[in-house]
This record gives sequence, structure tokens and C-alpha cells, in this order.
Amino acid sequence: MSTTTAAQLPPSPYRRTHTCGQLRPDHVGQRATVCGWVNSYRDHGTGLVFIDIRDRFGLTQLVFERESAPQELVDAADKLRGEDVIAATGEVRIRVGGPNPKLATGEVEVVVSTLSVLNKADNPPFAPDDLAALPNEELRLRHRYLDLRRPKMQKILASRHRVTKVARDYFDENGFLEIETPVLYKSTPEGAREFIVPSRVNPGLWYALPQSPQLFKQILMVSGCDRYMQICRCFRDEDPRADRQAEFSQIDLEMSFVQREDIMAMMEGFARRLWKAALGVDVPPIRVMSYREAMEKYGIDRPDLRYELTITDISDIAVRTDFKVFRDALAQHAGAPPYYSKKGVVKAIRVPPGAGGAKLTRKLTDGYTEWVKTFGAGGVPVIKVNDAGGFETGIAKFLDVPGVKDDLVRRLGLQPGDTVLFAADSYSVATKALGELRQKVARDIGLGPEWGKAWEFLWVVDFPMFEKNKDTGKWVAMHHPFTAPRFDQQQAFVDAGVDDEVAIESVVSAGYDLVLNGSEIAGGSIRIHNPAVQSKVFSLLGLTPEQAKEKFSFLLEALRFGAPPHGGIAFGLDRLVMHLCGTENIRDVIAFPKTQTGADLMTQAPSPVTDAQMRDLHVQSTWVPPTRA
Ligand code: AMO
Repeated sequence: MSTTTAAQLPPSPYRRTHTCGQLRPDHVGQRATVCGWVNSYRDHGTGLVFIDIRDRFGLTQLVFERESAPQELVDAADKLRGEDVIAATGEVRIRVGGPNPKLATGEVEVVVSTLSVLNKADNPPFAPDDLAALPNEELRLRHRYLDLRRPKMQKILASRHRVTKVARDYFDENGFLEIETPVLYKSTPEGAREFIVPSRVNPGLWYALPQSPQLFKQILMVSGCDRYMQICRCFRDEDPRADRQAEFSQIDLEMSFVQREDIMAMMEGFARRLWKAALGVDVPPIRVMSYREAMEKYGIDRPDLRYELTITDISDIAVRTDFKVFRDALAQHAGAPPYYSKKGVVKAIRVPPGAGGAKLTRKLTDGYTEWVKTFGAGGVPVIKVNDAGGFETGIAKFLDVPGVKDDLVRRLGLQPGDTVLFAADSYSVATKALGELRQKVARDIGLGPEWGKAWEFLWVVDFPMFEKNKDTGKWVAMHHPFTAPRFDQQQAFVDAGVDDEVAIESVVSAGYDLVLNGSEIAGGSIRIHNPAVQSKVFSLLGLTPEQAKEKFSFLLEALRFGAPPHGGIAFGLDRLVMHLCGTENIRDVIAFPKTQTGADLMTQAPSPVTDAQMRDLHVQSTWVPPTRA
């Protein structure tokens, strides 16, 4: 039998010697072959034709000398069009026209002696060039292969690769094992709506795609794996948003024999390593804030700390005013304990003129009243503090009650020029409305540094275990149903009567979120490892013992066979890359993302399937195409 070695193969025109980002003055005098896409063609009429050739690594300038080069070579160069795929061989020389400092290869050029056209390209619908105007996103997604050729997109793909590499290295060094878990999974109510897949071999039965590997990673702890990690795909059938896709990726982690602080320290170490490796930025120790403080001061559980604009409760002052809206709001559940979701409150945000508040026009503040209605609030009463320190506009006259004005000035630290925005409603509505308004005001008046320029990390801890769904009136788990009560709250949880709304609402969980610049980049918790506590959670969530058994018998059973105390977290991989690459659009950091309507414009998924496929799967569609008018 004869064997052929690579050295014996006939020479290939596209056996490249260098990438398009590689050549430097050190290579001058050498023959080089570069391969890639025609990025641009320039003929300045000086007897020289310049072609920039591009690959993932950069751009190289090719030169064809009309005078000295063979005619067919010059003819071939003249016929080249953008995005043709070529291989060019020639001698490297210092650029005759002077260096181009914008290019890494900008000091040299290749004087081409051999040109091979490896593939002609049709005229592309847009040039994959960062300097050209960006085409609309639909066109970019439809021709994603062209869009991904843009150097900016190549950089994002490389950054994403590096994030996963840093994650694998860091967690490997810390004793984590990467373990894959199934994608065809069991339907379990975890939060979002699931994608389901019919089973051909089990007529009438369905798999679900996992919303996260949550239960498998817990089972892996029961299996003694001790530390698990996985870069995994998750599927949630919910409407995409700027930072949300139905199909997204997590860096998923779980640890045994740990407390909340151990997990937070491990993850903080990862964030520090990642920011240093990707951006050279030193992340200082990350602040920790309770959910309660976050909601009180910022009206949201993921506050953006790049700007102030804090919220202050002024209920005790507002009750002394003549303003009916304040007094009516405060009359709701007046005797209930603080923070009870239905208790009436009055809250305020002070916007100082120096922080951009001078831009807060009457037109803007009038618009806020309509805008907050989306969050269930009735409106946004406003006052302005004039140069003499008096209150003006809106509801100023109602606050003209002895002591009220001075107390407000003191509580809010009011100064001339300030604007104050109020919300009077139940605790949950007023908090939500002002939290959203705080962010809107910041956008409207241009507060906060640009995206990708400052890093305000924050741990948010001590979430309530449960909240009431305002539509169904039923309890829902704030993290997920496997989150444990905080260590010192276990007994209070076991003792709380299932009908005691206030007691249930006050139980604090051992959950934690990592927030960066107002976006949740990771979330996790210590898990329940006691079957009795787990069963109580299921019953509060409205699952009968039979339903809990049907859905989660494997978990409840595993917990009975020696479950170690354990906990974990998952980072949103796409969101991490968005921050590191400075983009606010999640589709920019996913090679093949879906549109707002869940479509892949390149492959045209989702698409119809044949009747035969449906029959094989024992399913029938009830969808009727709309009739044309
Ligand atoms: P959670 O649901 O909080 O927790 O998700 C963890 C992190 O994943 C990211 N994320 C998303 N990113 C893009 N598109 C989405 N639709 C999307 N949904 C979530 C966020 C979020 O912080 N199993 C638990 C984790 C645990 O308890 O260990 C879980 O999935 O950055």
C-alpha cells in the first residue's frame, strides 16, 4: 500500500503562507501567499492597482503594477469585484505610498505575481465593511454570512469565544467538571412557557426543551459531582427583547457543601478574571445590597448605579397634606406592616438641575403621567423648587401646610432648581412606577456614562421567596421553586401558615442576583435539600401533592437519598458578551439569532412540515390560515 504525505501533494494555489493580518516590515523581501475576500479595488491612474484583501485576521494591501506585470494578471485584477475569493502570491515590500497607521499591516504591501480566483461572488446586497453605512437589520440577518464577515462582528465572535475560554479555564482551576445535560427534557413548570417536542416512538407524549438545566445540576450534586459547570443552551418561549432571546446561552454552575457567600465569592472571582482578561479592567470588591434596599432606593431589583436619582418614602409627611390623591393612597391598608405590597405609600424622586434636571421640561413631566399608567400608577404629581426656595407648579398649593414644606425640604435635601416627581399608590405599584420612571428620566436627561464605559457591579440578595402574581392572585417563586429560604428563615417558613399572606410574603430567600449597570447578568440561589421544605413550596405554588409527584418525583426522590446542601448560579453568556463588546442588542452577540417574532431570517425557520411528518409524530394542527379578504 502506498501512502502520500502532504509534502508530496501538488502545490495548491491557496496554500497560504500568512493570514491577511500578519505581514509586517520583518517580512519584507519574502514571498507570501494570502487568501481571502476582495474588500476594495482602487486604481488611482498611477499605473498601480490596489486591492485590499480581507480575512478574519485583518486586511492586506495587494499591488498590481500595470507596467511590469503580465497583461493577463492585470486583466484578472481588473475583473475582480467585491467579495470575490482569491489567493495572491507576491513579494512583500514597504508601502510605496507611505504607511497606513489604521491597519496592523499598514506598513507593507504585497506586489502580486500570481493571482488565483478561487470563487466569484455575486454582487452582494451590502458591503461587509464597518466603514460603510450599516444596512437595516433585516437584511443583515437574511444574509448573516455577509454580516458576520464585518470586522466588528468577527471581533464579537472572538470575544464570545474568549469569554467561554476564560470560564472553562477559571472553573476548571477551581475543581468544576463540565457535564452535559439533556436537551430533550421533561415538561416542568419553572417559570416561562416551554417549547415542546412530540415523541414519535411514544404517541401522545412530549419532551420539553429545558428553560435551564436547573434540576439536572441539582441531581448532579446528589450524584456527588460536587462542582458542575456547563456552557448550555436554554429555551424559553417568551417574547424577545433587546436583552432577551427565546434561545440563549448560560454559563451554568452548581456547588455542594457551600453557603451563599462561598458561591458569591467564587463568581466574583470569575467576573474579576473575565474583566481583566477581556478589557484589562480591575473589578473592585462588589457591593452587596438587599432586595429591600434596592426596591426602596431605586424601585427595581437590578438598579443601575451609574447615576444617583434615588427614591425616598415621604408617606409620613404626605399624610399631613391637603392632597386627596396622597391621602386616599395612604388610606389603603394603613395599619399593615411596612413593605406590605398592598399598603398605600407616597414616594418621591428629587431631580437636581445640575444632574441634567434642567432639561426636565414641562412637556416631559406632563408626559410622565400618561407613561406611568402602563405600570398601573394613576399619574405623576410634580413640583419645582424656585430660586427663592418656594414650591411651584402642579400640586404646590396642596403642600402649603405648616411644617410640610420644611419637612420635605429636609427629607429630600431640596435645593432651588430641583424638580420632584411623586407617586402615590400601593407599595408595589408606587415602587415599580418610580423605578421605571427613574430610568426613563435618566435617559431623557442624558444621565449616566455611555454603555461599555463604566462598570457598576452589584450583588442583590435577600429577595422574598414568593410574590403574588397580580393577574392570577397566586403565589409565584421569585427565583424558582427550588430556592431555599435564607438559612435563618427556614423555621419561619416551616411555621408560616399557608393562608397567612403577610407571613409568607416576609420570608426571605437564599437567592442572589449579580447586576451590572442595571442589567441582570447572573442569578442563582442556595437550593432546598430537604423534601419537606420542597413539598411546602410546591403546595404554596398551587401544586397538589399528586401534581408535584407527577412533575418532580425524580427530584423529591433524589432528595431522599442523601442530598448535600448545595447551591448555584447561571450567568447569561449573551449578556456578558453584550457588556464586554459594548452593544445593547443581544442579536449582535449571537451568530444566528432570531428576530422579535422568533424567526431565523436566513434559514426561514420556523417553517411548515409535511403532513407525513405530522402523522409520524401523531400530531395535528388546529391552526387555520386566515382567509384573504
Ligand atoms: P435565571 O432565569 O435568572 O436563572 O437565568 C440566569 C441568567 O440568564 C440570563 N437570561 C437570559 N439571557 C438572554 N435571554 C433570556 N431570555 C434570558 N433569561 C435569562 C440572565 C439571567 O441572570 N436555573 C437558574 C439559575 C440558578 O438558579 O442557578 C436560572 O436559569 O443573565
